Amino acid sequence: MEKLVITGGTPLKGSVRISGAKNATLPAMAATILSEGEHIIKNVPLLRDVFTMGRLLEHLGMKCSLENSKMIITNKGLRNLEAPYELVRTMRASILVLGPMLARYGHAKVSLPGGCAIGARPVNLHLMGLEKMGAHIELEQGYIKATARRLHGAHIYFDIPTVTGTENLMMAASLAKGVTRIENAAREPEVTDLAHMMNRMGARISGAGESIITIEGVDELSPIEHSVIPDRIETGTFIVAAGITGGDIEIMDAKPEHLDAIITKLQETGIECEQTSKGLRVRARKQLKSRDLKTMPYPGFPTDMQAQFMALMCIAEGTSVIRETIFENRFMHVAELKRMGADITIEGSTATVRGVKHLKGAPVMATDLRASASLVLAGLAAEGNTVVDRIYHLDRGYEALDKKLKNLGAQIERIKT
Ligand code: EPU
Repeated sequence: MEKLVITGGTPLKGSVRISGAKNATLPAMAATILSEGEHIIKNVPLLRDVFTMGRLLEHLGMKCSLENSKMIITNKGLRNLEAPYELVRTMRASILVLGPMLARYGHAKVSLPGGCAIGARPVNLHLMGLEKMGAHIELEQGYIKATARRLHGAHIYFDIPTVTGTENLMMAASLAKGVTRIENAAREPEVTDLAHMMNRMGARISGAGESIITIEGVDELSPIEHSVIPDRIETGTFIVAAGITGGDIEIMDAKPEHLDAIITKLQETGIECEQTSKGLRVRARKQLKSRDLKTMPYPGFPTDMQAQFMALMCIAEGTSVIRETIFENRFMHVAELKRMGADITIEGSTATVRGVKHLKGAPVMATDLRASASLVLAGLAAEGNTVVDRIYHLDRGYEALDKKLKNLGAQIERIKT
């Protein structure tokens, strides 16, 4: 088991490079199921979730190799159409193989993901869409069994915009017969990145990034080389890291146009963000102020940045009311932040954070990916030592976070116990 030991109080200085986006890499990897041949994905982050998706693709019969953030995926046709529980339970994004397997092979068996630390996270909308496209779906012993001779185009409306649901159906519809229209689709940049990649493979997708996506099915797709977009959540996390330590850093390879809501909100707290030729310069030169927050689907403020924003609000001046509207159980970091002296109360999906002068280092436990990031951020600002346990959550989604922070001057060590 590994832990992070952080001695807080050092303002971060220097520059940091942002890695490729986890949530763009995982669907890009799944999309390689749609076409035989050699696929190349660049700017791939070295993360546990990426390795898990690699293992899943290999289990299905593909070959994956990763060197210097370049992944080569060789697809000579799948020999297995089942995503087993052992892999799906460690990473919910495994559900992304359902749409492509069904569209390409007419059959797929994928374990139901089940709940996770941040909420129930059902996949009913993925299944509803596939059924509308002509799939026959059965739930059997914890598995989704889907069959279809050939999927057909359909008119699909999502009650809630779902990111992986939109991606799954976009991939399924790309090889269906006829036109599919997804209304109230997710608009996240990762959805748009997947559509760009797929269009270069020969798909006909329009409207990605807007709430109506139209996909005209084609008979086949071909492999291409694709470079995934930089991780906007990692970028946001480093902006908060600079802010919470009173630092001055340059974030390279960031795409500020994907971070409008995040940058605007953080600027309101007093963090200065300025676009440079290489990326983004972030400085915090004065006492930060509290701001209220409500998480929303893109282009709103992302739920994946809520925990990090809360860490910042713990030491801001005033009171911040934070409403989580996407996941029902995404306040697991609150109890841990309180162990560090934060003043937070929760009522339903609302957390009220009253800023304190200082956080104090403490042993804390990571519960999920973004909660772990918030504890690291709090540790960077706290007086004394913070020990963050269960950091395997962090390694699922942040590439070398501790090394990158250390390069910026943070006192942070990874220890084995
Ligand atoms: N939902 C349903 N039915 C469905 C699908 C979703 O009710 O069939 C609900 C969910 O329960 C949730 C809302 O819709 O309340 C939105 O969930 P969504 O499906 O968009 O989430 P996701 O696709 O499972 C992706 C990211 C998450 C991120 C969310 C929201 C990937 C691989 N994961 O999950 O990332 O929090 O979108 O933006 O893209 C993370 O990186 O830490 C992470 C959890």
